[in-house]
Amino acid sequence: MTDVPTPTPVHELDLPVLDVDSGREARVRSVEQARSQHWLAKGLIGYTVTSYDDVVALLRDKRWYSAASLAVELSGVSDPEFTAGRRETILTVEGEVHTRLRRLVAPAFSPRAADRLRPYMREVINGLVDAVAADGRCEFVSAVCEPYPIPIICELLGAPKQDWRLFSRWAADLLRIFDFDLGANYRLVMQASRELDAYSTALIEQRRNRPAEDLLTDLIAAEEAGDRLSHDELLSMVNAVIVGGTDTTRNQLACSVALLARYPEQWRLLAEQPELAPRAVEETMRFLGAIRGTARFASEDIVYRDVLFPKGSFVAISTWAANRDPAAWPDPETFDITREPTGQPQLTFGSGIHYCLGASLARAELQEALPILARRMPDLALDGEITWKPDGVAIWGPASLPIRFTPGS
Ligand code: HEM
Repeated sequence: MTDVPTPTPVHELDLPVLDVDSGREARVRSVEQARSQHWLAKGLIGYTVTSYDDVVALLRDKRWYSAASLAVELSGVSDPEFTAGRRETILTVEGEVHTRLRRLVAPAFSPRAADRLRPYMREVINGLVDAVAADGRCEFVSAVCEPYPIPIICELLGAPKQDWRLFSRWAADLLRIFDFDLGANYRLVMQASRELDAYSTALIEQRRNRPAEDLLTDLIAAEEAGDRLSHDELLSMVNAVIVGGTDTTRNQLACSVALLARYPEQWRLLAEQPELAPRAVEETMRFLGAIRGTARFASEDIVYRDVLFPKGSFVAISTWAANRDPAAWPDPETFDITREPTGQPQLTFGSGIHYCLGASLARAELQEALPILARRMPDLALDGEITWKPDGVAIWGPASLPIRFTPGS
């Protein structure tokens, strides 16, 4: 008979501590050192998982629940009008409830559905470049990244183009849910939520009478074995698309361009070979992702690799570290948009049941934008210092990215 090792309670482990305050190189070294000692480390918010295989295993283990469901509780806002009015979203539900929702909505987010929007994505990005092309310089975040995803989300949902300003404001206010000072701004979140619900209700009514080629029509029609999304679930999905699909994409575009600005030969290559766009997107997301991690808590006592995590244990999942794990990528610190796929996807879209629902759309947006930018902004270079958003923000990237390029293309 083989002995089954007794699991060690996680708090009894002597774990390496990650360096979270120093620059990038020191952080990379610190992760490498920690990984050589133990698969688990101590980081900014408790236990942190850093290796590719463990990150994937934890994200795929349904006993670990998304910490997104705790966001309101942890914010300290106690106004019952706010807390009672919060609707569950696909990111905050688990188990059967999540499986059902995901099964119903997934077809509407297929790669084919995203491909419908590619011509419009090209139109939007070209329009934004037109405005700065003659100058040969711009602050890239405000000129291109900020405005890029909103008209696409409008088009995706089937909302009239002229309403993009409304969506822009709702997106900005709804995204305050992730702010450290939510207490000061939760009323704006409530107000935006109410306005968006009223707007979406009218749009849903229209689409019920007159179906069109858009996400809302697909979601209304979504049906499996006689099951359909309720009106409340439809509203929640519209909200999730706006919250999940705007700041992520614009920050990723800024991260990708900030990175490529340091590699002029790869920028030129992308302009000459636009077919490299899919690889360039995966590699920039691997090397500099706008989302660098997520968090889970144990819904029950969990034993994983001989470690006991008591119910309620909180674990930070570093997709940033997993994306540079040498066990998953040869030479992970080399940035190379021609890198051969390894069969192990980069993890900036997450993994497991909460894997990004908008991944096909986001990929299409970035795959369309990057080669157009490379072609129309030749000789790209930084035109001053990049200002990065504070390290603690969930959706991260440059706050300002001054660039210059040869004008007129
Ligand atoms: C580059 C852009 C994007 C990045 C980096 C990104 C990243 C992520 C990540 C990491 C998760 C999983 C979070 C977790 O497991 O805790 C996620 C989930 C999600 N994303 Fe994205 N996302 C992006 C774009 C989008 C877009 C364009 C949409 C909508 C159109 C979207 C909608 C969602 C939704 C609804 C979920 C929740 C899925 C579920 O819980 O089943 N995302 N995203």
